[in-house]
Amino acid sequence: MSPTLQLLKMEFWLAVTVVFIIEGWQQCNGFRSTHQHHRPHIVFIMADDLGWNDIGFHGSNQIPTPNIDALAYSGIILNQYYVTAICTPSRSALMTGKHPVHTGMQHTVLFGAEPRGLPLTEKLLPEYLKELGYATHIVGKWHLGSYRKEFTPTYRGFDSHLGYWTGHHDYNDHTAVESPYWGLDMRRGLEPAWDLHGQYSTDIFTKEAVRLIRTHNTSKPLFLYLAHAAVHSGNPYNPLPAPDEVVAKFSAITDYNRRRFAGVLHKLDESVGKVMGALHEAGMLQNCVIVFTTDNGGPAAGFNINAASNWPLRGVKNTLWEGGVRGAGLLWSPLIARPGRVSTQLFHITDWLPTLYAAAGGDVGYLGEIDGINAWRALSEDLPSNRTSVLHNIDDIYGNAALTMGDWKIVKGSTYSGAWDGWYGPSGRGESLVYEPYQVMTSQAGRALARAGTTLTPSIIQTLRNQAEVICDSASLYTHAGRNGCKPLTAPCLFNIRNDPCEQTNLADVYPEILQLLEMSINEINATVVPPSNLAWDPRADPRFWDHTWTNFGDYSILNNAVSR
Ligand SMILES: *[C@@H]1O[C@H](CO)[C@@H](O)[C@H](O)[C@H]1NC(C)=O
Ligand SMILES: *[C@@H]1O[C@H](CO)[C@@H](O)[C@H](O)[C@H]1NC(C)=O
Ligand SMILES: *[C@@H]1O[C@H](CO)[C@@H](O)[C@H](O)[C@H]1NC(C)=O
Repeated sequence: MSPTLQLLKMEFWLAVTVVFIIEGWQQCNGFRSTHQHHRPHIVFIMADDLGWNDIGFHGSNQIPTPNIDALAYSGIILNQYYVTAICTPSRSALMTGKHPVHTGMQHTVLFGAEPRGLPLTEKLLPEYLKELGYATHIVGKWHLGSYRKEFTPTYRGFDSHLGYWTGHHDYNDHTAVESPYWGLDMRRGLEPAWDLHGQYSTDIFTKEAVRLIRTHNTSKPLFLYLAHAAVHSGNPYNPLPAPDEVVAKFSAITDYNRRRFAGVLHKLDESVGKVMGALHEAGMLQNCVIVFTTDNGGPAAGFNINAASNWPLRGVKNTLWEGGVRGAGLLWSPLIARPGRVSTQLFHITDWLPTLYAAAGGDVGYLGEIDGINAWRALSEDLPSNRTSVLHNIDDIYGNAALTMGDWKIVKGSTYSGAWDGWYGPSGRGESLVYEPYQVMTSQAGRALARAGTTLTPSIIQTLRNQAEVICDSASLYTHAGRNGCKPLTAPCLFNIRNDPCEQTNLADVYPEILQLLEMSINEINATVVPPSNLAWDPRADPRFWDHTWTNFGDYSILNNAVSR
């Protein structure tokens, strides 16, 4: 054999070996090599505490959200979309694809002084996507544990984090009050970001998201999780912080808190436009999946010192009524086969992980035992979805539970002794208020989408908007118990959500066998529930001991005698 031939042969075997190693590695990592260079960028925008009726595409004319609406009309409006009733459970579901009852995250939120976090045994969405070759970044709120560094985002699959660890913060000074504790909550990775003091949170997060998009090397797919502070309330001394000149645009809103809320929401909508503009300029829109979603229902009527609206849906954040769990959300992508429609396919927040993993070309069989269902094909091609029921929660500490199966929903027990079981405005449908389709089309997102090839017209917009609106018989709204006396603290209530999305007519006595079926389903799931992981607050967490910052206090074994003092 000539030396050249020998060299060629060696090269051949080397190449074969390398191919085998790569293929073997890819197989154990559960993905197909064919998609490797074409995986879509994924931008997941999560609003905090945004109510069903706070976005324009559900029918309110009060606070224009033209950028969010432009995405909605040119993508898929998810109109039968369920999140959980409150923040930490929703974010845990998004990150794990598992229902919070299966990770111990089902009861209320995680407080900054609690020595717990989303269990480290869980593998998170950014870790899965990293294996598919993604660059992964989180901007904004985490809220899944931070008492030890191992629980924080950059130890859980994210390449970078600029944002905060607890449930809320002030939009200007970036401190979080969890009374009696009070400290800075704004970081880059593990480092406190004092230098950002005075800059508005929504602007900081938008700027960081745009920077990440602009500097991203598109030879790699990007996963950007942009988890805004907006429209969550800040601290009690300034519950709805928004720039005065923005709030001034909404002088027509007479309610002071709703006017300030409008300012906070306007900045959020503007952020969506800027992110869309950046994605377009970076040439990334052509191969991109974008999700916009709330984390839970809106805190209306002063709940959580906020002023959101879920009208005409019943209840508020942290209740299991539709107003607490039916989420405002949308999916946009040029990869969607049938865009421009209102989806009534049932979809749960746990479904994002397998759905996005599938959109990225991953093999969902690799994800193991999760509760989420891959709905990518169902949504893209408008096929019947495999999701037919949603557990809203089982919380034996509050003593409430709710489940939807097909058109039916059972509600057992309540929170706050039923004090937030009613219907709360505003409706945003006053006669002087009009909706402007052209404002949607000419918004920054609308323009980016038009340049990317989407055609929106006023008639398309009006048609979709009409389809997405929930209309209920308002005559019995605002009578506290609704018809047929639903008293969930006394006996379970049953609603037909398709006919009665506002949960006005209790059918428990009319269809006892359906009620029984749904109760059995709750009992079945209840047998698999993991106990809630909530813990007492640890005094070592007090930010006073840590230069007035919320910190990973569990990483430092002995604290100076300050604590025992
Ligand atoms: C992007 O990454 C690829 C692959 O690593 C590299 O070849 C290319 O030079 C990078 N481009 C820029 C602009 O850094
Ligand atoms: C529903 O699940 C079945 C069984 O896993 C699968 O074959 C089918 O493709 C799924 N349907 C959709 C629309 O994803
Ligand atoms: C769930 O099971 C626990 C323990 O068996 C029980 O105490 C609780 O009442 C059940 N909850 C519901 C909603 O059925």
